[in-house]
Amino acid sequence: MTRTRLKDSLQVFESLAQARSAVSQCRTSAGVLAIRVAFYDRVVAAKVPGFQSFLKAFDLAIPLRSGESLKSLDSLQALLADPRQAPRLLALPTRQTVFFAIGGGSVGDFVGFLASTFHRGVALIQVPTTWLAAVDSAHGGKTALNVGGFKNVLGTFHPPRETWLVHALLKGQPEARRQEAQGEIAKMALLDRRVWKSCTQPLAAATGAGVAPWPLLPELVQAKLRVVARDPREERGHRRILNLGHTLGHVLEASLELPHGNAVGIGLFFALWVSWCEGLLATRQFFELEQDLMDRFGLSPRIPGRLPKRPVLRRKFLGDKKSLGSGQVAFVGLRGIGKPVILPLSVDTLLTHLDHFNGDIPE
Ligand SMILES: NC(=O)c1ccc[n+]([C@@H]2O[C@H](COP(=O)([O-])OP(=O)(O)OC[C@H]3O[C@@H](n4cnc5c(N)ncnc54)[C@H](O)[C@@H]3O)[C@@H](O)[C@H]2O)c1
Repeated sequence: MTRTRLKDSLQVFESLAQARSAVSQCRTSAGVLAIRVAFYDRVVAAKVPGFQSFLKAFDLAIPLRSGESLKSLDSLQALLADPRQAPRLLALPTRQTVFFAIGGGSVGDFVGFLASTFHRGVALIQVPTTWLAAVDSAHGGKTALNVGGFKNVLGTFHPPRETWLVHALLKGQPEARRQEAQGEIAKMALLDRRVWKSCTQPLAAATGAGVAPWPLLPELVQAKLRVVARDPREERGHRRILNLGHTLGHVLEASLELPHGNAVGIGLFFALWVSWCEGLLATRQFFELEQDLMDRFGLSPRIPGRLPKRPVLRRKFLGDKKSLGSGQVAFVGLRGIGKPVILPLSVDTLLTHLDHFNGDIPE
């Protein structure tokens, strides 16, 4: 299998002053000083000390209102028609321009989509400001907009030229955001033995609410990029393993409006359960891994709300991109740490497993 060189490259900064200096020196791939455009989450601007001064390093700075509603054709249209932003944005010499997506996953997905289509493509630097984005969504090159109530219907693969991890942007987040990231952190740990080991090191010490993400970030990102490098455009099947925990996770995210990371966390317990039911995990292994998810990552298998009715669940499982057609779903199971398996399962089998996992699917 040929390996594709990833364009993603990681830079780590402790302070905003260091990041600001890197912005000032940012060049195009042709070596010319770049025209730097910041698209940033307004909330970050309000919450992070020194952010206004950081913005001064950019040639143009455009505030965005983050969240799922940002990831829409309406907000793309609104941005490109905004009399305060559009004239300067549309006049940019795009081959000399670098877009910076400064925010959580919604900003990264939206600005990534814009960068990949704006005048047929502008260089992008992802600067995640939530733990979830720093651990997961800023890496791997997926961009997305939601359409007609469906998530991520429009999207492109546009790997960032670089991804910058800036501690000053990440460290002030509320505790709930750190907790939200634990699902994706635990997912990478289950998929990669090296990450699993790092999660047990003293630096990453668990606090009951999960592991400390900052010291783990480079390792987590490299683990994701190793998977992406084998299948950058999700054509060979390997990248599917990153969907561990996402089959149920996406359903819970959409129907109970749970944060993505929390929904994936519950989905991981379900993935272990299905793996045990399907004979991939021995009973002892299953219980140990389940306990680890709770103790190490502060996760819980409890679904906080009522599942949708059976016909709705069936539609959602089959409507997901993980569907294989003819009533089958490509479910990511586990034979052990670092040993994911793609299981083709009928939706009926999946619903039976879910029934036993939760005991409460309404008819
Ligand atoms: N492209 C991918 O590969 C990929 C992968 C996973 C998830 N996603 C997408 O990511 C999105 C979820 O990401 P998210 O949780 O980062 O969402 P988000 O961008 O909506 O941010 C969540 C909240 O955190 C706030 N916030 C951001 N930075 C902050 C900071 N430093 N301090 C305090 N508050 C801050 C935001 O204003 C927002 O209210 C979803 O749209 C999901 O589909 C994409």
